[in-house]
Amino acid sequence: MKRSLFVALTALFGLSAGAANAAGEAAPAAEHGGKVYQRCAACHLPTGAGVPGAFPRLAGRINQAATGDGGRDYLVMVVSKGLVGEIEIDGRKYRGVMPAQAGLTDEDIAAVLNYAMALKTPGEAAPAAAMEPAKPFTKEEVAEIRARHAEANPGLVHSFRAGVFDVPLPEKPAADSAVSPSSESNK
Ligand code: HEC
Repeated sequence: MKRSLFVALTALFGLSAGAANAAGEAAPAAEHGGKVYQRCAACHLPTGAGVPGAFPRLAGRINQAATGDGGRDYLVMVVSKGLVGEIEIDGRKYRGVMPAQAGLTDEDIAAVLNYAMALKTPGEAAPAAAMEPAKPFTKEEVAEIRARHAEANPGLVHSFRAGVFDVPLPEKPAADSAVSPSSESNK
């Protein structure tokens, strides 16, 4: 009885369990981030390439923003409260509205940002890959940031953006440097 149940479970879950073990603790977190990212993908696309002029590119940019404290606050609050106000990316202006991503836990927000931070720019090595990867978000940090900006609204979040993307991007990053969504896990 027990044995046949074990065999059945192994057959069902053996593959995924093996993969998770091989990659260590980080794999479930990255998977979680990928699942949450599906809602972002509706606008920013699964690759994070965005739609020029409508939905900003996230791939290759988010890691950079997450290297500074102001950027970390900004990223968490964009997801938590949404964003409205003109922004400029890759020389293009965006005057869109990003709705607050309601229903996400602190853990979901940490996971989805860590996932987005590792997205590479399609067709080229991600600037993110050439840079020191930003420290991954934890749910504790997300909770702290959300508590500190509890009163924020989409327009106020826009004001957090000043200076966040000013760090110059590296010139031409090495083509083979890769940052995988699962490579960082400081718990
Ligand atoms: C309904 C479409 C939509 C969805 C869903 C969406 N976004 Fe956005 N996002 C936008 C738009 C539009 C903007 C630009 C808003 C503006 O012009 O001010 C934006 C801006 C951003 C920015 C700021 C970029 C910058 O350069 O300042 C980040 C970061 C971001 N989104 C991340 C996410 C993440 C992560 C998710 C999923 C949890 C998500 N978005 C879901 C439409 C969306």
